[in-house]
Amino acid sequence: MKIRESGMPDEKIWEDFFNPVKILEILGVNKNICDAVEFGCGFGTFTIPAAKMISGKIFAIDIEPEMLDITKKNAIGKKLDNVVTIQRDFITKESGLDTESVDYVMLFNILHGEEPEKLFEESRRILKTNGKIGIIHWNYDPKTARGPPLEIRIKPEQCIEIAKSLGFVHLDTYDLKPYHFGITLEK
Ligand SMILES: C[S@@+](CC[C@H](N)C(=O)[O-])C[C@H]1O[C@@H](n2cnc3c(N)ncnc32)[C@H](O)[C@@H]1O
Repeated sequence: MKIRESGMPDEKIWEDFFNPVKILEILGVNKNICDAVEFGCGFGTFTIPAAKMISGKIFAIDIEPEMLDITKKNAIGKKLDNVVTIQRDFITKESGLDTESVDYVMLFNILHGEEPEKLFEESRRILKTNGKIGIIHWNYDPKTARGPPLEIRIKPEQCIEIAKSLGFVHLDTYDLKPYHFGITLEK
């Protein structure tokens, strides 16, 4: 079940909304992280720079084969051999990754679905102890250049509430100007 309002504009337009390396650095993506996963990788806007910043593999999951093809092409273009693309519906079939197998989960622009809790629950299952979740999402602000309708935009406090109810520790919240907020959580 594709998450509502999760279609993508042209790749160039999407890239211009972010400084992916800076955002990943702020959210604690670095060489101390071995394996990571991005739920809904899209064009690989964040998967590709993250692949360069970690020490192990990054699993890039998306329901759309075209998105995975672009991510794969982008990885090959950058000579990266640690990007594992997986075509899968993670809402109806979870991630398919092993329990307690990854160090970092990226939930980037994906938490406006009907049941965001499911993604936190699956993240908790696949994360090792002390593993981290990094979140970014569009601010609750009608002036953002894009983003899902305000009625379905998740707010930082909702993310933190869900995460805490599942036993995650809230590490920090960030203002990722111009349009996003960020959150880090620890299992
Ligand atoms: C808004 S885009 C975000 C892409 C990327 N995370 C980023 O921030 O650049 C959401 C992505 O999630 C994918 N997606 C939506 N529903 C999904 C599902 N149920 N299972 C797997 N991927 C899904 C879409 O195809 C799309 O590529």
